[in-house]
Amino acid sequence: MITTQVRPAEPKDHKRLSDLIFLETRSHRHLDWRSPLEWLGSEFFWMVEEGTRITAALACPTETDGIAWVRLFVHSGYWSAQDAWNVLWDTAKDEIAHAGGAKVAAIVQQSWFEKVLAASGFETRQRIVMLEWQGQYQPWAAPEADGFHIRKMTETDLPAVEILDLESFGPLWHNSLDTLKRAFAQSLFATVAENEDGIVGYQMTTGFAARAHLARLAVRTSMQGRGIGRALLGDLFAMLKKDGFLKLTVNTQSDNENSLSLYRKTGFIRTGEEYPVYTFDVPAVPN
Ligand SMILES: CC(C)(COP(=O)(O)OP(=O)(O)OC[C@H]1O[C@@H](n2cnc3c(N)ncnc32)[C@H](O)[C@@H]1OP(=O)(O)O)[C@@H](O)C(=O)NCCC(=O)NCCS
Repeated sequence: MITTQVRPAEPKDHKRLSDLIFLETRSHRHLDWRSPLEWLGSEFFWMVEEGTRITAALACPTETDGIAWVRLFVHSGYWSAQDAWNVLWDTAKDEIAHAGGAKVAAIVQQSWFEKVLAASGFETRQRIVMLEWQGQYQPWAAPEADGFHIRKMTETDLPAVEILDLESFGPLWHNSLDTLKRAFAQSLFATVAENEDGIVGYQMTTGFAARAHLARLAVRTSMQGRGIGRALLGDLFAMLKKDGFLKLTVNTQSDNENSLSLYRKTGFIRTGEEYPVYTFDVPAVPN
């Protein structure tokens, strides 16, 4: 008889999980500068094992305190998505609750996964919208006149960038120091705006072929509305033009009026692509 069990995914499962992930077309991934198997061995990564086969997996590791993102959900063809999800999610909910609870969130790009989450009680109040810039921005005012300057980011800036990130983004969107380190390592253009008190803004941009992607932009809350975001973008546009990048994409939240306004004023246009953000609050239960 074949035994079926749900258990934590471990480093020894690497080969079989990698086969499942790369052979199955039914998968949800939201990886943010990682490969899906980099979370192996960390908490909140489970799989279904049937005999010698792994037939489904779910990873929703915590990013920052109390926030866990669904990074990977994959199942093999003979399961329905809903059945595979239900089996894994029951275990996930229970273990997350015993570990202190969390808000579990997912950015959904496929309609089958949206149905699965909605059927499990996940709710959506926000969308991610995509915008694109195609080189149409005019020169900007020199930031030095306003008491700050822009320079290249270095790795030693990252702890200060993390504090700024924590302060300026809502809790769901904080990046951990580890994630910021990965983003920095993979970025082509990373800059900070600095005044005499230290770092007041930053941006990180990745690039491939002639396309670039603005992965992160933030300005210290007390310094917002003074042209720092616009200056960081102006400086970035100049670097992109110099290096032959023809397009720059960015994602932001549908209710982030400040960033939508900044992007509109600097020449970005919405591409029409939008993805809902679903969340589910798993309350803590005493152990
Ligand atoms: C979005 C953000 C980077 C803008 O930086 P900023 O330095 O405050 O922006 P600027 O001062 O350069 O303003 C440029 C434009 O942005 C818009 N804007 C900035 N702050 C605004 C505010 N408080 N209210 C309304 N619009 C605002 C305006 O259109 C402004 O143009 P204007 O000066 O002609 O009015 C900043 O608000 C921030 O860090 N927000 C939190 C993190 C975030 O959301 N990042 C972007 C996610 S993709």
